[in-house]
Amino acid sequence: MKKFAFVTGANKGIGLEVVRQLAEKDYHVFLGARNEELGKQAVKSLGLSNITFIPVDVTNTESIQNSLAKINVITNHLDLLINNAGIAPDFNIKPSEIKLETLRQAFEVNFFGTFQMIQTFLPLVNKSERGKIINVTTDMASQTMFDRGETDPINILGYNSSKTANNSLTLTFGKEFGSNGPEIFGVTPGFTTTDLNHNSAGGKTTAEGAKIIADFALSNINYNGKILNANGIMPW
Ligand SMILES: NC(=O)c1ccc[n+]([C@@H]2O[C@H](COP(=O)([O-])OP(=O)(O)OC[C@H]3O[C@@H](n4cnc5c(N)ncnc54)[C@H](OP(=O)(O)O)[C@@H]3O)[C@@H](O)[C@H]2O)c1
Repeated sequence: MKKFAFVTGANKGIGLEVVRQLAEKDYHVFLGARNEELGKQAVKSLGLSNITFIPVDVTNTESIQNSLAKINVITNHLDLLINNAGIAPDFNIKPSEIKLETLRQAFEVNFFGTFQMIQTFLPLVNKSERGKIINVTTDMASQTMFDRGETDPINILGYNSSKTANNSLTLTFGKEFGSNGPEIFGVTPGFTTTDLNHNSAGGKTTAEGAKIIADFALSNINYNGKILNANGIMPW
């Protein structure tokens, strides 16, 4: 059966590269982007025929419903849903200085947006033989690793806590799905130089970061309910 993947926030950065890598593995990939022009340009830049642009703003319920309707016209099953869209609006802002509104923005995209994507697309993922939902996370959202100083020490409340809440989606939906349902897991690409971190030097390339996500997406191992980095399962 033909395989289908949907990647959100894929007009640039890690998401764009995940699209490329899955399309090169013969998936038909839906490239999700909230900006129509940027999304269409991104599809064109990849130069592959098995990629379709799907407009989606993960903070907008109507936009998510419209993206489902567009995908439903093309396929009756979705093998991979990759919730990659994410923001770090408090990059460089201390917890004591973040505005409430900025904290809410981080949760709108990284938590509520991911939640709505999961609920909306679950019926389509359930129709795949082995559907997977992948939430792109960060090791800084692992309370254990961050507390132990095993991650970058970037103490940004909005980003880190909304991704911790995102991890909680992974754990709780994973418990609901159990061993017979679809898989849901979180993956961090690790520090990758992108717009999200103002292109900070010293990170992975987007192709390297994306490969970590794509490899777990294509893996035969069942990681339901876990959060992962390049070395395997991360602690909560
Ligand atoms: N870079 C790292 O070091 C790193 C490390 C760990 C995890 N991650 C995670 O990796 C994922 C990709 O990040 P990146 O580094 O590639 O950052 P990026 O280059 O800034 O890309 C983020 C993408 O998310 C999209 N987006 C933001 N808000 C959206 C919304 N409301 N609806 C739909 N799309 C939205 C952006 O679209 P616009 O272009 O329209 O803004 C963009 O396409 C994120 O979840 C991030 O948290 C990154």
